[in-house]
Amino acid sequence: MNRKKSILLSALLLASSLVPASANSNEGTYTPAPENLEARRQFSANRFGIFIHWGIYSMFGQGEWYLNNNINAEEYAKAARGFYPADFDAEKWVSAIKRSGARYITITSRHHDGFSMWDTEQSAYNIVDGTPFGRDILKELADECHKQGITLNFYYSHLDWTRDDYPIAMTGQNTGRDRSKADFDSYYRFMNAQLRELLTNYGPIGAIWFDGMWDQDFKGGNFDWRLGEQYDLIHSLQPACLIGNNHHVTPFPGEDIQIFERDLPGQNTAGWNGDSEISQLPLETCNTMNGMWGYQISDQNYKSSDELIRYLVKAAGMGANLLLNVGPQPNGELPAAAIEQLTKMGDWLEVNGETIYDTQAGPIEEQEWGTSTQRGKRVFVHILNPETREVTLPAGLKLKKAFTFADKTPVRFTRGKDATTLHLPEATPGPDFIVELETK
Ligand code: GLC
Repeated sequence: MNRKKSILLSALLLASSLVPASANSNEGTYTPAPENLEARRQFSANRFGIFIHWGIYSMFGQGEWYLNNNINAEEYAKAARGFYPADFDAEKWVSAIKRSGARYITITSRHHDGFSMWDTEQSAYNIVDGTPFGRDILKELADECHKQGITLNFYYSHLDWTRDDYPIAMTGQNTGRDRSKADFDSYYRFMNAQLRELLTNYGPIGAIWFDGMWDQDFKGGNFDWRLGEQYDLIHSLQPACLIGNNHHVTPFPGEDIQIFERDLPGQNTAGWNGDSEISQLPLETCNTMNGMWGYQISDQNYKSSDELIRYLVKAAGMGANLLLNVGPQPNGELPAAAIEQLTKMGDWLEVNGETIYDTQAGPIEEQEWGTSTQRGKRVFVHILNPETREVTLPAGLKLKKAFTFADKTPVRFTRGKDATTLHLPEATPGPDFIVELETK
């Protein structure tokens, strides 16, 4: 190397050592294991999952953010000694969820309030050591899921409103923690020890679903969450375990799925998805059945099964999963209003699931009339607006036959110069009228 080059190189090395730690030390390459790739495929094929937000916050009946309302964390924690969900029955939960047609469950193992819903050794603030109930509900649920053959995923909060070692940031500022005790190294060790438990003691786990890193200003590079090391730990414990992170930005290396909160990919009505681009990873949209994630006593405004089915269909039309939330009651039961809509979704999926599970985004993107999904050469045109009389198909689509999915009645179509038009029958009852196309 000549002198000029070597000076340049040393200058570059010096400069790079002066650059502040990157936004998150999670750059670099990530090669998913073969079993991880297979798990991704299965994840997408499942299309529909149920999200469960349950914790001691459910007792207050005001959603999972209750502690954030300037409430003292020590005072809040006293509720744990009153937590006795006498009607919790993992068998009933899993059966009701399977009945809805959902193929996986994602449950809050520990939400922002910092209370752990399993028998963790990392803190006594947990359902076994901290409540008179004393049962490890994650264990009961994991055993039941494995028995009934449905995938279990764990939501895990990156932020914590109770622990002193979690550096106070945007939220939970007035829960009475001692700011002088902030110690991210200690908190990071705590999280990783908990994740190790979750991935060691509960059998195969489908995914770890992170949430809350948006609490710190990580975008400007000021806060290093050290995701890389954490993600490696997860993949080393269970290579097939998928990592998703609800950070609202484009996925980082090490992540296996991309999450969208309260919006379908590419949409931003709720304001969370402005900074994310759609990646090549499996996609998942999470949303609520009423307006809240955790049990909200005053919100009985559940979306109808027809509305929920159309949302699921639209997600499938974009090649995305729907993770639909239920907030169980403090007594441990799933709200009857939720079960009612879920059962109707299950009835619909029983008949029409072939057009949803294991499909890909179809050749016709969402339109005013509906959307499409696809399975090989079979295209499913989902007409969600019952007023629709005609559907224009893209010119490139080589149509052989068109018929109703329900009873295989032929659907008339005419070929124009640039496009083919489907002519729909008058009555299109139900949430979704499906026309199947056989293509060349
Ligand atoms: C938000 C909320 C959280 C909820 C999550 C679910 O990030 O902070 O309470 O669990 O969305 O998507």
